[in-house]
Amino acid sequence: MKEVKIESTLYVFEDLNELPEDTIKLMHKAIEAREKAYAPYSNFHVGVAILLDNNEVITGSNQENASYPSGLCAERTAIYYAGAKYPNTKIIKMAITAGSKKNKTTSPIPPCGACRQAIAEYEVKQDTPIEIYFMGEMGKVAKSNSLANLLPLVFDKSVL
Ligand code: THU
Repeated sequence: MKEVKIESTLYVFEDLNELPEDTIKLMHKAIEAREKAYAPYSNFHVGVAILLDNNEVITGSNQENASYPSGLCAERTAIYYAGAKYPNTKIIKMAITAGSKKNKTTSPIPPCGACRQAIAEYEVKQDTPIEIYFMGEMGKVAKSNSLANLLPLVFDKSVL
């Protein structure tokens, strides 16, 4: 038996304004998208903006449903739309912001496991890392240089 250690690296910025201008703009688009979330059940609003290689920005927000599992997270709403509209265009980066109507979110909120799996599919497909930035409503912003950092031991097409 041997122990296997898995390491992962994130970068944490104290504030959105510490980021490069183009990423700040992308996060502002995510914030606008968050305001359009349809989340009457959880009151938890998530917004995403995805920058593509063709300079298009795709945005998305979480869409809930009275039949709870029929709803969809913001990250998957956005990335599936990007995949559907531009199937051959690479995803450069993704900005995510999450806020709750119950209490202010002040620390970075990472994408859920199902969304990480969905993002991983596109990162593997395009064979180029996707930068991921995530935050709450305000405060620190975390950056991952690749989805792989957020999902070690990924299940992907190589095992099928
Ligand atoms: N949600 C997202 O949009 N993204 C995530 O990564 C985590 C959760 C949404 C789903 C649901 O509408 C609400 O947040 C509460 O879970």
